[in-house]
Amino acid sequence: MHNQNPTKTLAWKRLQQLSSEKQELQLKQLFDQDPKRVDNFSLTLGDLYVDYSKNLVDAPVMDALYQLAHETGLQENIDAQYNGQKINATEGRAVMHTALRSLDQDNSFTTEVQEKKARFYAFAKAVTEGSYRGYTDKRIKTVVNIGIGGSDLGPDMIYRALAGYRKDIEVRFVSNVDGDHVMEQLKGLDHETTLFVVVSKSFGTQETLSNAITIRDWFAQQADTKAVAQHFVAVSSNENKVVDFGIREEKIFPMWDWVGGRFSLWSSVGLSVAIAIGTDQFEQLLRGAHEMDTHFQQTDMHDNIPTTLALLDIWYNNFMGCTSQAVIPYTQYLDRLPAYLQQAMMESNGKQVDRDGEPVDYPTGYVVWGEPGTNSQHAFFQLLHQGTQSIPCTFIGFRKPVHGNKEHHDMLMANFVAQTEALMNGKSTPEVISECIQAGMDGDAIKMIAPFKVFDGNRPTTSILMDQVTPYSVGKLVALYEHIIFVQGSIWNIYSYDQWGVQLGKVLADITLKDIKEGIQHEHDPSTERLLEQLTQG
Ligand code: F6P
Repeated sequence: MHNQNPTKTLAWKRLQQLSSEKQELQLKQLFDQDPKRVDNFSLTLGDLYVDYSKNLVDAPVMDALYQLAHETGLQENIDAQYNGQKINATEGRAVMHTALRSLDQDNSFTTEVQEKKARFYAFAKAVTEGSYRGYTDKRIKTVVNIGIGGSDLGPDMIYRALAGYRKDIEVRFVSNVDGDHVMEQLKGLDHETTLFVVVSKSFGTQETLSNAITIRDWFAQQADTKAVAQHFVAVSSNENKVVDFGIREEKIFPMWDWVGGRFSLWSSVGLSVAIAIGTDQFEQLLRGAHEMDTHFQQTDMHDNIPTTLALLDIWYNNFMGCTSQAVIPYTQYLDRLPAYLQQAMMESNGKQVDRDGEPVDYPTGYVVWGEPGTNSQHAFFQLLHQGTQSIPCTFIGFRKPVHGNKEHHDMLMANFVAQTEALMNGKSTPEVISECIQAGMDGDAIKMIAPFKVFDGNRPTTSILMDQVTPYSVGKLVALYEHIIFVQGSIWNIYSYDQWGVQLGKVLADITLKDIKEGIQHEHDPSTERLLEQLTQG
């Protein structure tokens, strides 16, 4: 990977200068000044249309951002990733999730994927079609995915996204070590018709192993322990540990060390999803992602959708003082997309040192959050419209509904469009006053209420539009975000594919667990000690 402190580039200095000049940029004026602004600030890839014209950028800002990507070696870094170099240097690993959806016969990663995928697909198919049965010869009706982080969020998000393509089998997700969550997910399950998929790359994650043991015990209370072999399968890269748990080798589906957990839904980590929607639809998910991979790798950065969107976020994060970004899907199917993106983006780019291990003196990752529209309009949109912070928002919508209810879809998408229009244009004091006069209000009442009804506007949004929620389009969309993460990590000169920041809390939890179970024996600060006392007394 190219190792370049971004703040030492000419482009960074230029962007700093532009940001102090452009604090006063007005979106409405930008549209007035450039009649071709929509054409100049939009990109397409097949049915995917990305309109970034409602962002606080103009041509000089975009030029400087592309220059920043160039000076920090973006193309060289993309090539390093796609060529299988060990760009995850702190873990000594390549980063090849793109190989999971590639058809390239000359690539050793892809060849290995294809071999293993055949077995994973054959098993998924057998469960979906009913030839793989439970120990009492009953058809599998429910699959329980036991995993956490990347072994849960990706499959769960995709399962919900593609609910419209589900066949007969229901999937439940057990992730949290919270026993109440486990019990709720087991409620009403018939052990004879349930398949448990334990997903853990390391097979050492406390939450997943505890949940798997609890569930295996629940199962064994009702069935012969020999039946465990028929009802439990695993997805892991740690075969020995899986076998120790009691799952047979032929029931283990692989994960590779060159696929990070949060980028793994395309592998056999997607087994539950593949069972639920069928392998043909699962393959479509991969094909959609592959279209985005090819676009990202081969398209000049000025027409490159992931690069352009990543650069806009860099502009807001590093030069305009924004610290968070909202993602608002206008489809209930993508209700878990923000949660999925929180792990993908924040675990990847929430880093405090650069590739030399030196502290960075510029912001890296930002907070990602969101909820589907229109629900979120009735929740946090007040703050987006009239709050004191500027929060760039990405609106994701689809031209057609899955089930053909045009009346509802028109209402949904009318909101999608209206919100970005309102966030940009706002409502001025004269507009508010004239509206109040028309409503027959008197002068004093107008004076009192007017300030509360004013919207400053000028709030930036990006609109992403695709034809329909399908496995293909969802694959393309998720891969878009994966590449955005890559571009940002490349520019910030950080390692995006490790996650050392989650270790400390895990280690301390082992100690505090001992204290809770056996009485407080370790030294803690007074606040922690008091909390432990509260949990151990009585
Ligand atoms: O939270 C840390 C993490 O390592 C994530 O990166 C990963 O997705 C999750 O834990 C689960 O890990 P595993 O699949 O090894 O159980």
